[in-house]
Amino acid sequence: MNCRLNVFKQKSNRMIEVSVTATARQADPHRLAGKAAVVIDVLRATSVMVTALGNGAGSVIPVSSPDEALLIKAPGRLLCGEREAVRIAGFDCGNSPLEFTTERVMGKTLVMTTTNGTEAILRSVNARVVMIGSFLNLDRIILELVRLELPVELVCSGTKGEFSLDDFLLAGALVSGLAQKIRIGATDLALLARSTWEQAESDLCQALESCSHYRYLRELGYEQDLEYCFLQNLHPVLPILQTDSGKIVLIK
Ligand code: MLT
Repeated sequence: MNCRLNVFKQKSNRMIEVSVTATARQADPHRLAGKAAVVIDVLRATSVMVTALGNGAGSVIPVSSPDEALLIKAPGRLLCGEREAVRIAGFDCGNSPLEFTTERVMGKTLVMTTTNGTEAILRSVNARVVMIGSFLNLDRIILELVRLELPVELVCSGTKGEFSLDDFLLAGALVSGLAQKIRIGATDLALLARSTWEQAESDLCQALESCSHYRYLRELGYEQDLEYCFLQNLHPVLPILQTDSGKIVLIK
């Protein structure tokens, strides 16, 4: 066997187009058609979903409003989510990933509504595959994107219609990780995300100090969430939105 040849074969000649949507409101059904979408809300909705499913929740149903969540309340379901980053009155859980322990979520269905993250998911349903991304499952998402070989749209949720640096950093980490495994064709925004990530990677705290949603959560006392949401590969799971049932479930 020729070992040198094997080394060359590690990076395939196939190419994946990668683009980034900066905020949930910019998610465009036409642009998403036929693509693999990764929905990103690092602080904190997609980090919560990955944690809950990683800790044994059966599924997550994203809905757009508290009223909609209340309408489908049922035994075995937990109503979860936030407005202004605070638990919604009458709901079982808020939007802090540390609440979603195995004891709390095992076997349960979560009905979840958040300001931006669930909105971004619901706006991405036109994609061929919708994955839920976070730093907690970073490498698992990269592997699946390489396996699928579809054009990729990294859908950053943002905060109330505004760009949010925490999401953009994960988009950059995904672009960077993909580029190490396969040839990519990146849009300008995907290139910018990658270079932003590669510059910030060694000192994320410093990069995030100036991020408005990060500062807001810190003011509310969620310091532990801020550390937790940037841990890499703690839950190497693959949550996918089943568009027919509207449920997010884990794929093996
Ligand atoms: C959202 O979906 O807007 C966020 O997850 C807000 C939050 O950090 O609670």
